[in-house]
Amino acid sequence: MFKKSISLGIVLSTLMACQSGSPAPSESTAAEEHSATAEFMRINCESCHSPAANSSTRLAPPFFAIRKHYLKEYPAQADFQAAMQSFLIKPEEEHALMLGAVEKFGLMPPIYVEEEQLKAITEYLFSVEQPHPQHEGGGKGRGARVKELALSTKKVLGKNLMGALKEGGKEHALPFCNERALILTDSMSQHLHHKIRRVSDKARNPSNQADSLELSILAEYAALIAEGQEAGPILRETKFGSRGYFPITTNAMCLQCHGSLGKELDADFYPKIQNLYPQDKAIGYGAGELRGMWVVALDSL
Ligand code: HEC
Ligand code: HEC
Repeated sequence: MFKKSISLGIVLSTLMACQSGSPAPSESTAAEEHSATAEFMRINCESCHSPAANSSTRLAPPFFAIRKHYLKEYPAQADFQAAMQSFLIKPEEEHALMLGAVEKFGLMPPIYVEEEQLKAITEYLFSVEQPHPQHEGGGKGRGARVKELALSTKKVLGKNLMGALKEGGKEHALPFCNERALILTDSMSQHLHHKIRRVSDKARNPSNQADSLELSILAEYAALIAEGQEAGPILRETKFGSRGYFPITTNAMCLQCHGSLGKELDADFYPKIQNLYPQDKAIGYGAGELRGMWVVALDSL
C-alpha cells in the first residue's frame, strides 16, 4: 500500500519535472499541432483516403502513397508544400501529380480548407510518416464500416456546408446539402454512386423519399432516439442485397434550412427553397432530431 503510493509519487513528480523543465517547448507545440492536423484529416479526408480500406473499398490513394510520390518529385519541403497546396486549392488535372490515381479514382472533388489549415496539412504530410495501408481482411465488422463511412461522409458534408454558408450565405450553400455535391460528382460517381445515399421520411428532394422498408428502419431509430438510447448502425438483408443504415440527426446549423418556418427558417428565404423543391417536406425540425439516415449498399463496397 505504502510502497504503491510512493512509486506513484515518483512517477507523478517525474512527469511534472518533464513538463516544467522541458528544454524544447517548440517541439511539444509542433507535436500538438501535428495531432490536431491528424485529427482534422481523420475527419475531413479519411472518408476517401482511409489507410484501413483495402484496394477494393478505397476511394482515393492512401496518404502513405501520396507522401511517397510528392517526396520523390519534391524532396525540398518548400516545393513539396507549394505543389500540394496548389492542388488542394484547385484540384485540377494540371496540378495533379498522381495521374494514375486520377485515372483510377477520378479527380478529387474540391474540399473547403482554410489556408492556415492547408499549410498545416502539407507541413504534416511532409514531416510525418503516414501509416502503411493495411492488407485485406482487417477484422472490422460491416457495422463498424457503415458507421465509419456515414460519420466521415457526414463530417465532410457538414464542413463543406459550413464553408459555403460562411462564404456566400444560405442561398449559395443550398447545393452543398447534397451528398452528390461531395462524393457523387461525376468523377467519383463510378465509385460511390448508389453505394451511399440519404433518405428521409420527410424528404426535400422526392428522390430521397424512404421506401417502406426504410421507413420501418427510420421508425426504429426514432424510437431509440426518443428513449435517449444510442442509435448505431443497423444491417439488413434486402431483396436488393445487404444494406447498412446509420441515422442522421439535426444540429442548430441545419435549422436555417430545415427548421420552423418564420423562426429559424427565414420566411423570406424559404421561397427560394420551394422554387427548387416544390414538394419539400423537410421543415419544422428542431435540433437533435432524426432527419433521415444513410443507406450503404454493402455488397458493392
Ligand atoms: C471525396 C473523396 C476525397 C476526399 C474527402 C479527399 N480526397 Fe484527396 N483525393 C481524392 C481522390 C479520388 C484523389 C486521387 C485523384 C487525384 O489525384 O485527384 C485524391 C488525391 C489527393 C492528393 C494527391 C493529388 C495529386 O494527384 O497530386 C492529395 C494531396 C489529397 N488528395 C489530399 C487530400 C486532403 C488533405 C484531404 C482532406 C482535406 C482530401 N484529400 C480529401 C479524393 C478525396
Ligand atoms: C443551406 C441550406 C441547408 C442547410 C444548412 C442544411 N440543408 Fe439539408 N438539405 C438542403 C437541400 C437543398 C436539400 C436537398 C438536397 C438534394 O436535392 O438532394 C437537403 C437535403 C437533406 C437531406 C436528404 C433528404 C431530403 O430531405 O431530401 C438530409 C438527410 C439533410 N438535408 C440533412 C441536413 C442536416 C442534418 C443538416 C445540418 C447538418 C442540413 N441538412 C443542413 C438544404 C440545407
